[in-house]
Amino acid sequence: MAAFTGRDLLSLADLDADEVKQLLQLAAELKAGKQLHCNQVLGLLFYKASTRTRVSFSVAMYQLGGQVIDLNPDVTQVSRGEPVEDTARVLDRYLDILAIRTFEQQQLETFARYAKIPVINALSDLEHPCQILADLLTVQECFGNLEGLTLTYVGDGNNVAHSLMLGCALVGMNVRVATPAEFAPDAKVVAQAQAIAQNKTEVTVTQDPEAAAKGAAVLYTDVWASMGQESQATSRIPVFQPYQINEQLLSLADAEAIVLHCLPAHRGEEITDGVIEGSQSRVWDQAENRLHAQKALLASLLGVE
Ligand code: CP
Ligand code: NVA
Repeated sequence: MAAFTGRDLLSLADLDADEVKQLLQLAAELKAGKQLHCNQVLGLLFYKASTRTRVSFSVAMYQLGGQVIDLNPDVTQVSRGEPVEDTARVLDRYLDILAIRTFEQQQLETFARYAKIPVINALSDLEHPCQILADLLTVQECFGNLEGLTLTYVGDGNNVAHSLMLGCALVGMNVRVATPAEFAPDAKVVAQAQAIAQNKTEVTVTQDPEAAAKGAAVLYTDVWASMGQESQATSRIPVFQPYQINEQLLSLADAEAIVLHCLPAHRGEEITDGVIEGSQSRVWDQAENRLHAQKALLASLLGVE
């Protein structure tokens, strides 16, 4: 067994291939009814809005027997300028584990450096590793395996796309990311995914959504303007329009392909109503799997057996 206890999860690349597989296995067992028990306390420090991540982390912790404290930045001293280094050292003395949703990855790294308890990235501008654990669980449930499958992401090459690239590379899936030229994924993350894949699987970045969608087992998209980019929402629409998951793009994928979206979705922008509500959509199972994957993650990082 991998030694998860006490570790941080700031990037999906903090895990190796075996560790991802172990987490997915435990998540599947928990979903099937396996019971684990802890009496520890999770803190949620979210500087951005959240429905799924906030609720699924809370329910996961309650189902494990633990407690959750919502550290709303607006009513704690963090919004009044208390240094992260100080907040982290204090929270470390009260909490057993801390999930943070924020803007800068650097801030997460500072929290992790100053808090000895596990720190989990609950979404940053760079990555969304917890989302991708749930996504991989969903793909595994649909196809029975992960290795050799092709996942195509179309849209904005940011946090979700970055963690997907790393996650697919780790589990032996091919990953194609199609974005407008100016919204390509971070070159460092692409290189990281390529280094993990070691040419054994495909890691492709392209501006051609149709070529990327051809024969894919999974089509995936995310909003065109992420949290913090609301002022660009309108100007981005025409740039991203060719990257919409619609019936025509879906027809190019494998006949058995599934469609995923991390949610929240903007119907008529990155995905059509017909596709998200259609027979190939698995977005509700995907959302449910946030609970099971994060329960597995919490149990593993807390050393609950
Ligand atoms: N997918 C996701 O992280 O959703 P929330 O923003 O609602 O947490
Ligand atoms: N890319 C989106 C994901 C939301 C779950 C954002 O950062 O807002």
